[in-house]
Amino acid sequence: MKFNLHATCLHIMSDSSKIVIVSGTNRANSLSRQIAEVYSKILDNLHTSNEIVDLSGLPPNFPHTALYENAGRDAKFNTYREIMVKAHKFIFIVPEYNGSFPGILKAFIDGLIFPDTFKNKKCALVGISSGTQGGGLALSHLTDIFNYCGTHVLALKPRLFHINKHLQDGILKNELYMGLLQEQAESLILF
Ligand SMILES: Cc1cc2nc3c(=O)[nH]c(=O)nc-3n(C[C@H](O)[C@H](O)[C@H](O)COP(=O)(O)O)c2cc1C
Repeated sequence: MKFNLHATCLHIMSDSSKIVIVSGTNRANSLSRQIAEVYSKILDNLHTSNEIVDLSGLPPNFPHTALYENAGRDAKFNTYREIMVKAHKFIFIVPEYNGSFPGILKAFIDGLIFPDTFKNKKCALVGISSGTQGGGLALSHLTDIFNYCGTHVLALKPRLFHINKHLQDGILKNELYMGLLQEQAESLILF
């Protein structure tokens, strides 16, 4: 009988049931983090295990200590790399910064294990902005990157514009926005 050690290791190491929610900025007290928490509660109610990865917790100098020739050498960044490589499904909360997604999110992606973090994984994207676009271009840019890396992106990509007007004390007051997140969460679970 053939014993596929590689496949067995991958099975043990991966966490197929948990959905990782990435709050896509390192800005302190970001609204992205608040939306990540709203999303986490939606998944809790759907009995789906989840974990928030907040980029504000990244080592501040990780572009110098954890990328390129230093890949794998920053112990704190490695904890993020492990969470991301083990997960099979992600949700990215993506704030609109200068008409795209935050540079810190691209640096984070560049520090992850390629291609294992991405290949044949699935993700859902949520755009947020204080302006009128809801991060539409940001989601488009990020979709291109994830598709290049081998991650399938759920077609339903809510764009929560004027987000600052709809969040109060961590509660998303807009029923349409809540409905879209609920529908997206249910779709991602079945995706
Ligand atoms: C560097 C930077 C650039 C931004 N650029 C835009 C933008 O292009 N369009 C927009 O509607 N809002 C922009 N914003 C505002 C964010 O959309 C707003 O802060 C929103 O709350 C989401 O970001 P947050 O998660 O950092 O709170 C920008 C904010 C920052 C910090």
